[in-house]
Amino acid sequence: MSLLDLENVKTVAVIGGGTIGASWSAWFLAQGFTVRCSDPSSAARDAAPGLVAACWPQLSALGASGSAQEALARFSIWESHLQAVEGADYVQENAPERLELKQRLLSEIDAALPADRVIGSSTSGLKASDMQTGMTHPERLVVAHPFNPPHLIPLVEIVGGKQTSEEAADWAVAFFNAHGKRAIQVRREVPGHIANRLQAALWKEAAYLVQSGVASVEDVDLAISEGPGLRWAIMGPHLTFHLGGGTGGMAHFYDHLVPAMQTWWADLGTPTMDAALREQLVDGVTQEVGDRSIADLAAERDRKLIDILNVLSPAAKRS
Ligand SMILES: NC(=O)c1ccc[n+]([C@@H]2O[C@H](COP(=O)([O-])OP(=O)(O)OC[C@H]3O[C@@H](n4cnc5c(N)ncnc54)[C@H](O)[C@@H]3O)[C@@H](O)[C@H]2O)c1
Repeated sequence: MSLLDLENVKTVAVIGGGTIGASWSAWFLAQGFTVRCSDPSSAARDAAPGLVAACWPQLSALGASGSAQEALARFSIWESHLQAVEGADYVQENAPERLELKQRLLSEIDAALPADRVIGSSTSGLKASDMQTGMTHPERLVVAHPFNPPHLIPLVEIVGGKQTSEEAADWAVAFFNAHGKRAIQVRREVPGHIANRLQAALWKEAAYLVQSGVASVEDVDLAISEGPGLRWAIMGPHLTFHLGGGTGGMAHFYDHLVPAMQTWWADLGTPTMDAALREQLVDGVTQEVGDRSIADLAAERDRKLIDILNVLSPAAKRS
């Protein structure tokens, strides 16, 4: 069966209105969609409009038009996922990270939704292959994994399961890219998808460097934020090293520096994640942050993130 044309997507159901669901809701509203959100928790339902409104100044700074109030007129929140998916053209599932719960939700949503609608799950760690087992139309399920907070970070990782159709994965990539996200396709299901694996690889060595006394927590952080981290907002590790090879590009980089890099690889470590390291890392970040609260740090991160996003892709180009 062919899938709904992208231009006919008007209403998005957001299942689960917690951290990720509320942020996704704000982003979908900023794209002009009607959003039907669901959450069985009355506290979450009460909090959701406020969480969406809190994202709005940031979305406005990135080019969203209209006020939070105007956007919230297109937002509704329901107790049941079955109410939320009524009339939905796309579903973004953000329920708690429990396989049986997601299997049940997804099979019920699948039964209620026309077969030409794609369903995306925000799951960080579950496989589409495992989540789609109870679905009558498993071919329309993809993992559509955002990076927190989804209303700001462009990356969406699209992963199909064993029964997902190529068409559904392509549809999801095209859908997000048409609205200013940068969707990438993960061709094989692996734990952590791509970006979290890369983060995990880096943090493994970062923790090892602290544990083995090579540098302090703060200096390891500075080695990234004041160094390669600045370039990584512009280009990834392959393009960065393509430039590292000078006019010879990646070919020269490979011939010239891979032998040295292999000796570094041989020396990379695995930290022992014990209570002593926990204390070392907690003490290290406590010293690093000084008197800044977590809320201060998050606000600083988001403000600078918006500035970076506007430099990399001006609001006018994104809207
Ligand atoms: N937090 C992150 O950084 C992050 C990043 C990317 C992806 N994710 C993924 O997003 C999903 C949601 O994570 P979160 O951090 O928003 O969790 P959360 O705990 O903040 O929110 C989950 C929400 O789901 C609601 N819920 C419980 N049962 C439900 C049901 N049957 N139907 C609908 N909603 C239900 C809860 O009441 C809660 O409000 C997870 O799969 C997680 O792996 C999280």
